[in-house]
Amino acid sequence: MTCCRSVCGVMQRNSQVRLLLVMPSMTPTYVGRSYDAITQRWEAPQHPLTGLPQHQRATQFSRSRGHALDVGCGCDDRLMEYLRAQGFEVEGIDVSERMIALARQRHPDTRFHHADICRWELPRQYDFITGWDSIWHVPLAEQESVLRKLCDRLNSGGVLIFTMGGTDQPGEVQDDHMGVPMYTATMGIPKMLAVLAECGCVSRHLEYDQYPQLHVCVIAQKA
Ligand SMILES: C[S@@+](CC[C@H](N)C(=O)[O-])C[C@H]1O[C@@H](n2cnc3c(N)ncnc32)[C@H](O)[C@@H]1O
Repeated sequence: MTCCRSVCGVMQRNSQVRLLLVMPSMTPTYVGRSYDAITQRWEAPQHPLTGLPQHQRATQFSRSRGHALDVGCGCDDRLMEYLRAQGFEVEGIDVSERMIALARQRHPDTRFHHADICRWELPRQYDFITGWDSIWHVPLAEQESVLRKLCDRLNSGGVLIFTMGGTDQPGEVQDDHMGVPMYTATMGIPKMLAVLAECGCVSRHLEYDQYPQLHVCVIAQKA
């Protein structure tokens, strides 16, 4: 199977990795532990923090500004801060205990959930859901069900923004390019678009925002 290689959360176009089919997906619990070990990187001033312009684009499609959910929120609050300023009431979920602990310290008034998005039952409907550089860590076999779950929990007119590996075919890779074991997967763009359509979502924007790296931002809206 041909996959794309993930480097610091970015899919690289020119490197192709052959994976053994026997290699199991790294579980979200272990992905969370790996992030526990590198949380300090998100606090370093030189750490590249992306996604704000894309979120500004996404909120333009919003019809209602009620509840928003940040999936894989991490500890940096630039996206949540932006959503709050736009009038959303935001909550966050992350599988990394340390990321959530830091996020809670910074925003004691915000609701944070320490949970795996694969297992977590979303407690309500949302007007806006973001999964920036996070849901691509979900095991390949569970990516479709997670995307369906997020779409199902959008209100009519609700907006979903997320990033994914921009290949046509599905693929997954596990390596230690971040200095800790890490796992990334993609269902591929055609499959992702089909799932969005089946869930009653219209794709409003698809952007290779770090081209030639295969880092793709998707904005979709529930009909
Ligand atoms: C690259 S960081 C991005 C953090 C944040 N979205 C940002 O842009 O600053 C990925 C985050 O996704 C979280 N994550 C990975 N898999 C997850 C899962 N299955 N459920 C919830 N969070 C997950 C990680 O713990 C980590 O905090």
